[in-house]
Amino acid sequence: MAYPISWRACLLAAGWLVLSELSLAASLASEPSAEPSVDGEIVPAEEEAATAAVVQHVRDSVQAGYDKTGKAFRDAHRKAHGCVQASFTVLDQLPPKLAQGLFAAPRSYSAIVRYSNGSGSSQDDRSADGRGMAVKVTGLAGPVDTQDFLMINHPVFFVRDAADYVGFQNDVGGGGLAAAGWLLRHLFHETRIIVSAATTKVLNPLNSPYWSMTPYKLGTEQMKYAAKPCAGGTFYEKSDTPNRLGDNMAIQLSMGGACFDFMVQTRTVPAEMPIEDPTIEWSDVLSPFVPVARIVIPSQTPEAAEVCEARSYTPWHNLPEHRPLGGISRVRQAVYEASANLRKQLK
Ligand code: HEM
Repeated sequence: MAYPISWRACLLAAGWLVLSELSLAASLASEPSAEPSVDGEIVPAEEEAATAAVVQHVRDSVQAGYDKTGKAFRDAHRKAHGCVQASFTVLDQLPPKLAQGLFAAPRSYSAIVRYSNGSGSSQDDRSADGRGMAVKVTGLAGPVDTQDFLMINHPVFFVRDAADYVGFQNDVGGGGLAAAGWLLRHLFHETRIIVSAATTKVLNPLNSPYWSMTPYKLGTEQMKYAAKPCAGGTFYEKSDTPNRLGDNMAIQLSMGGACFDFMVQTRTVPAEMPIEDPTIEWSDVLSPFVPVARIVIPSQTPEAAEVCEARSYTPWHNLPEHRPLGGISRVRQAVYEASANLRKQLK
């Protein structure tokens, strides 16, 4: 979750790369709109410029890391605890409202799951941070062959939209007084989310719930999704090394498997369940999360680090029925593409 804290403005960014990304961001940006779309999206006029600024920051940061170390790493969620093979099985007899897109028919798919820390640096697992779970469902029939689900171990994100994200990036990324000022100005909402997300203790990535934070389409509906460890699981949590999350997961998977219920929450009361503000949790009372699939991770040795590192996940690897919704995800379309492409190009 500590995305921009790691971001350092790099004045040496290659000009042509920045310009090409600015035009990529511009071409991907949605048209501004005053009226909500059928899915509740409203695109603010300043979003295009904010998106270009975020893309530029990410490119600068990946490039600066490469200039320093000769390696290009993710600008967020840099440290993997491991990538593991899994199955993703859609449940039988889902109600028609939920049986849409990937969940239209009961079927088992292969999946690859990457567990990570949120930080842009490869820090000690005992440090405060958000934890990520990214699931790539493979072998889909049709023009789209993978569906990615990206989740973090907290139900809400810490900024409302692209413009706010740029404010956070500029102030908190710069450190010092500007950072303290931002955190103080946002003390009772955004800062509280950051502290609560970063300080949740996880000892084994297989023993934590994860949430999408931002909304997505579910065919004719809108949803948020989550993955929760199946009831009755037992977890190895004895390692306390700087790499304890990867260590505990690898030891557990050497002895047995793990399992998650994959669940969706539909948007039943639009007035209380915003599309354009992922800092607001959708009430579980108004609309509970319902299991739609099961993720089973059999006993195995997690993938070699280089193979795991080379993978890329984005919420925009999606079936049209699960298109990401809202400003934070619209920004992410250009950002993840820029980050993954630059990593591939520099490696
Ligand atoms: C404006 C907001 C955001 C920005 C700028 C951002 C940026 C990034 C970047 C640059 C990466 C690395 C991509 C790559 O090189 O492959 C990444 C990865 C990731 N992000 Fe975000 N992110 C944002 C919001 C979110 C949200 C709301 C979530 C909620 C689930 C999220 C979850 C993840 C996860 C789980 C990964 C790791 C994917 C992997 O394992 O490869 N991000 N993010």
